[in-house]
Amino acid sequence: MATLELININKKFGDFTAVNDINLRVEEGEFVTLLGPSGCGKSTLLNMTAGLEDVTSGEIHINGEKVNHLGPFERDVAMVFQNYALYPHMTVEENIGFSLRLRKRPKNEIQDKVRKVAEMLELDKFMHRLPRELSGGQQQRVAIGRAVIREPSIFLFDEPFSNLDAALRLKTRGEIKELHQRLGVTSIFVTHDQEEALSLSDRIAVLRLGQLEQFGTPEDVYSRPASKYVARFIGTPQMDIFAGSFVNADGLHFQIGEAGIPLPVSFKIPDTAVDVGIRAEFVTLGSKGFDSAIRLVQPVGPFTYVTVDWQGGCVTARVNGVSHMKPKETIKVEIDPEGLLFFDRITEKRMDLQ
Ligand SMILES: Nc1ncnc2c1ncn2[C@@H]1O[C@H](COP(=O)(O)OP(=O)(O)OP(=O)(O)O)[C@@H](O)[C@H]1O
Ligand SMILES: [Mg+2]
Repeated sequence: MATLELININKKFGDFTAVNDINLRVEEGEFVTLLGPSGCGKSTLLNMTAGLEDVTSGEIHINGEKVNHLGPFERDVAMVFQNYALYPHMTVEENIGFSLRLRKRPKNEIQDKVRKVAEMLELDKFMHRLPRELSGGQQQRVAIGRAVIREPSIFLFDEPFSNLDAALRLKTRGEIKELHQRLGVTSIFVTHDQEEALSLSDRIAVLRLGQLEQFGTPEDVYSRPASKYVARFIGTPQMDIFAGSFVNADGLHFQIGEAGIPLPVSFKIPDTAVDVGIRAEFVTLGSKGFDSAIRLVQPVGPFTYVTVDWQGGCVTARVNGVSHMKPKETIKVEIDPEGLLFFDRITEKRMDLQ
């Protein structure tokens, strides 16, 4: 187990800045996700941590020691790649044991460790198969086994589930989480899937165009997003955002079109223009509020997401169970003021006003 510290890390490819002044400290045993859309610099940051890519400037510290000058093996990190990168001509057993053979460990020690790792990952029945004779999920587990057997102080995962189908993704996600609970090894996990990040991480680093937008717990990024960008990137369905203004008539309201949402007396009115973000679980459809036309009804099993035309835009409500509402029907929309998130319209940063 180890701590990892990235200090003022920059990476340029020619004139293009792929990673822009990132500072991040990962504690011992922590599971941290690098989350962001394609091209935001996740893999570049992970590769620099692994020692596969040089930094343009900045320092990488593992356990308080600067490791910039060390190669991947000397950093004591093990990486699991998106494409697994298994040796095609080696069996499962040989793939898993490769790094120990490279280190010239005694044969019986290698056999023993390979068996233990294979049992843990339920690969013991496939020991003599080649990678091409395995399913995607099994290949994925071999790649993890190859990393686990090295007993590294840090695991690095670069989108390890992206070649798996949806059901296998979920299953493998659970396995990775259990593995982390069992081994407690400091882990950095790259994904562009916000749900994956929320479900796995102790903390999530949300990246945008090579910069760190927010670093916080799943609860922080979901309930207290630093900016509109984070608020819209995290959560299903995507948060709805409306422009509006404060009106003081019969108590303080936030006015969106014709709808005035009541605010508590303790509310701190800012002196800048603000937009408001509304998550679907704070929208109620029923008999209170303004008449609105239903536009879209999307059942997802335990909930139905119902999108309605509202105050010049669209707002989505989360309805429990299967809803029998239909597009074009009229319904009333009520917003729970507790769930409102306020953003500075210019800087797009969230403001704590409640
Ligand atoms: N060797 C390179 N030369 C030039 N530009 C590069 C190189 N490697 C990456 N980039 C650029 O740096 C940016 C970040 O790339 P990176 O691979 O880190 O993104 P990512 O967040 O991992 O994206 P994805 O989710 O698609 O894997 C991209 O715009 C990419 O085109
Ligand atoms: Mg990548």
